[in-house]
Amino acid sequence: MFTRDTNQNKGFLPKKLCSFLSAKITMSSNNPPRAPWRELLDFQLRQTPGYEFTIATVEQSEEGKYFPRARICGFRGFFPDVELHPNGENDMQEQVINGGNPPSFESDLFTFTTDARMEKLSQLQSSEHEIEALFWLKEVSSQWRVRGKAFAIGNPRGECDEGEREARAAIRRELRLKPGTNSASAGWTFEHAVTKYFANHSPVMRGSFRAPPPGNPKRGDFPDSGPNSSLALTDLYDNVARENFRVVGICPREVEQLDLSDRDRLRRWRWTLETKGEDEKISFQWLQTELNP
Ligand SMILES: Cc1cc2nc3c(=O)[nH]c(=O)nc-3n(C[C@H](O)[C@H](O)[C@H](O)COP(=O)(O)O)c2cc1C
Repeated sequence: MFTRDTNQNKGFLPKKLCSFLSAKITMSSNNPPRAPWRELLDFQLRQTPGYEFTIATVEQSEEGKYFPRARICGFRGFFPDVELHPNGENDMQEQVINGGNPPSFESDLFTFTTDARMEKLSQLQSSEHEIEALFWLKEVSSQWRVRGKAFAIGNPRGECDEGEREARAAIRRELRLKPGTNSASAGWTFEHAVTKYFANHSPVMRGSFRAPPPGNPKRGDFPDSGPNSSLALTDLYDNVARENFRVVGICPREVEQLDLSDRDRLRRWRWTLETKGEDEKISFQWLQTELNP
């Protein structure tokens, strides 16, 4: 059994360089309230066994032209809650100090995991983080469309990396204390949060983050993946894999549901997150509108 403190992890910078790395998460009373569409979406997701969602980003070509890009990704719930499979839970207990974060926070951030070398992340960076996510929940005949800004966390250099610092700040602003939690953030770190998402992947999937750059022409005789592959990983802190692994949080700004469950009465709803003020004085409010379908 081995337990690692995040600040001592191989691949993470020494404490002195990033003393603010594990800074306490301070909550502001004006973080977004629990979204009014959450209960319905959570309910509908529970009716839907195994789901992915479509993630759309914008690509800008060298000539300055814009192109839509879309792909399927596994939906990993709302940050930072991720339901671990038993092997993932064991790995967290054995390898992460205190078994990971206390369950202090919740948010309405849709999450997926990805590889830092994939194109969607550079597309987010060059398009002010604009993203659209789309679910078709066939069992309940509902389409959900989410427009927002997406931020990737998991860079092993932590807050010493400007992009990581910006992403964490954007995500931190969306966190809420869970009902009944009053001890704020003692022991809660972004490193543990990302490690939990990594632990939720099978050893083979974890190992895929060690593979040569996705999307590049295949060269040489790098081993293929598979349960017996030399790429399979139980180590949650493998340097190479964690260099490439990222968790993406989508901060929703507009959510739309098209309800086709009653063919005689199609319904469409839109919720928009309105912001007032700036910085410390910012406040959020979800506005709900029924639309013509
Ligand atoms: C069922 C399914 C689930 C997938 N899940 C993910 C995922 O969670 N994250 C991811 O980055 N790619 C996932 N992919 C692969 C993507 O669709 C896509 O091929 C890859 O991310 C490269 O996209 P990009 O080059 O546009 O970034 C999944 C594909 C399928 C078919």
